[in-house]
Amino acid sequence: MAAVDWEVRRATVDDAAEIARLLHDFNVEFATPSPGADVLEARLRTLLAAPTTFAILAGVPAHAVALVTLRTNVWYDGAVALLDEMYVVPERRGEGIGSAVLEQMLKVAIDIGVDLVEINVDEIDVDAQRFYRRHGFSGNEAPAERAFYFFRELTGGDDPA
Ligand SMILES: CC(C)(COP(=O)(O)OP(=O)(O)OC[C@H]1O[C@@H](n2cnc3c(N)ncnc32)[C@H](O)[C@@H]1OP(=O)(O)O)[C@@H](O)C(=O)NCCC(=O)NCCS
Repeated sequence: MAAVDWEVRRATVDDAAEIARLLHDFNVEFATPSPGADVLEARLRTLLAAPTTFAILAGVPAHAVALVTLRTNVWYDGAVALLDEMYVVPERRGEGIGSAVLEQMLKVAIDIGVDLVEINVDEIDVDAQRFYRRHGFSGNEAPAERAFYFFRELTGGDDPA
C-alpha cells in the first residue's frame, strides 16, 4: 500500500502557528475576515493549553486541520463538542485527508467523554453536508426540522488582515 504523507495527529501547543496559517488561509479562500495568522497563533497558544480546545492535524507541514471546543450541557453527562473549523488545503481535497482527520477527531472526542458533536454548515455548502452525512452526522433532514444559526457579536469582532 502506498505511503501517505498525511498521518493524522492530535495537535499540541507547539502546532499553534501551523493551525493559525491554515485557518487564516481558510478565511482568505472564502473571503471571510481574518485578524491574521499572528493574532490567531497567539489565541491558539492559549486555547490549546486548556482542556476545552483540541485540534487534529494531518501532514507535515499540515494539509488539514479540525479545531474543536468543548462545553458542558445540562442534557448530557459528558461534554458537548463544537467542530469550529474543518479545513483541507484546496490542492489536497478529495484524497481522504478530511475523512481521516474527522475520524481521528471523533476518536479523541470519544476518549475524552464527549457525548455530542455539533457542526454548523452553511445551507449552500452541499459538498460539506454530504461529507458530514457520510461520517454519520445528520441535520435538516426535512424542512420542518430546519434550524437556523443566530448570532450577535458583543464586541467589534476582528478587523480584516
Ligand atoms: C469539506 C472538506 C473538509 C472535506 O475534506 P476532503 O479531504 O476533501 O474530504 P475527503 O477526501 O475525505 O472526502 C471527499 C468528500 O468531501 C466533500 N467535499 C467538500 N468539498 C470538497 C471539495 N472542494 N473537494 C473535494 N471534496 C469536497 C465531498 O463530500 C467529497 O465527497 P464526494 O466524493 O461525495 O464529492 C474539504 O473539502 C474542505 O476543506 N473544504 C473547504 C472548507 C469547508 O467546506 N470546510 C467545512 C466547513 S463546515
